[in-house]
Amino acid sequence: MSQSFETLLLEVDDSGVCTLTINRPDKMNALNNQVFEELDAALDHIIENSGIKGLIVTGAGDKAFVAGADIEELNTLDDSQAVKLSLRGQRVFQKLEDLTIPVIAAVNGYALGGGCELAMACHIRVASANAMLGLPEVSLGLIPGYGGTQRLPKLVGDAKALELTLSGRFVKAEEAKETGLVNQVAEGSALDAAKEMMKSMIKQGPLALKNVILAIKEAGKDSGYGSEADLFGDLYNTADFKEGTSAFLEKRKPIFTGK
Ligand code: COA
Repeated sequence: MSQSFETLLLEVDDSGVCTLTINRPDKMNALNNQVFEELDAALDHIIENSGIKGLIVTGAGDKAFVAGADIEELNTLDDSQAVKLSLRGQRVFQKLEDLTIPVIAAVNGYALGGGCELAMACHIRVASANAMLGLPEVSLGLIPGYGGTQRLPKLVGDAKALELTLSGRFVKAEEAKETGLVNQVAEGSALDAAKEMMKSMIKQGPLALKNVILAIKEAGKDSGYGSEADLFGDLYNTADFKEGTSAFLEKRKPIFTGK
């Protein structure tokens, strides 16, 4: 990776899986201005790097994924700066959600406030058994500002989202799984489990993965079924579709090239 960051660690393994670690363990990986600027730049870098096949987002240390927006910084803003902060956070997390490679959050501890919003902007969440998730902004006299009020209801339904956000209570990993906030509770480390899950994805054709992500984004919209048909049809023009079907008929494993 040509770029280096102070608050993030970026590592790409031989299979093309990038692990992005928020790296402020002494502050529970809280999201300050520098983290957001670096995250924005790191995402651009990932978008431009066609060798990256999947992204795992995690936090440094074993206590926290991310314990929220940096409360010291929040404390210094006025109302118009707060709107800007919220819009910037929403934009960066949208950029993450809009990636067309699989994105898994490895939630290895506290994922609170902006940390829970970061995890929700990932496509999938794998949590360690000790993970605690929640949107405690009301306890600061605030509401979630980085997309949390919009993404949480999609995952858990309006009533549960209201319950969690109005109370600000933290949920343990198992309850988070029961409600749909996380996909899986890892037996060991969240990062290892996320890597294992990612393996089963990146062996598939990258163009098919991209079109799955684009199609599922359209779910619930009037245009959803039409988009699905178009994205399905697009893949007929790819070498990966020919390879995938030929490999099945020839009883061998496919070798996808992303073309
Ligand atoms: N912003 C800024 N600093 C934070 C932070 C945040 N969101 N969360 C934790 N920290 C800092 C603490 O201030 C402390 O720094 P210090 O050692 O310089 O005093 C350090 O991280 C360790 O946190 P601490 O509270 O001592 O750890 P803990 O194990 O007792 O508690 C939490 C962990 C996560 C429960 C607690 O830190 C917490 O409630 N954090 C805020 C969560 C929150 O409200 N997030 C939403 C923000 S929008």
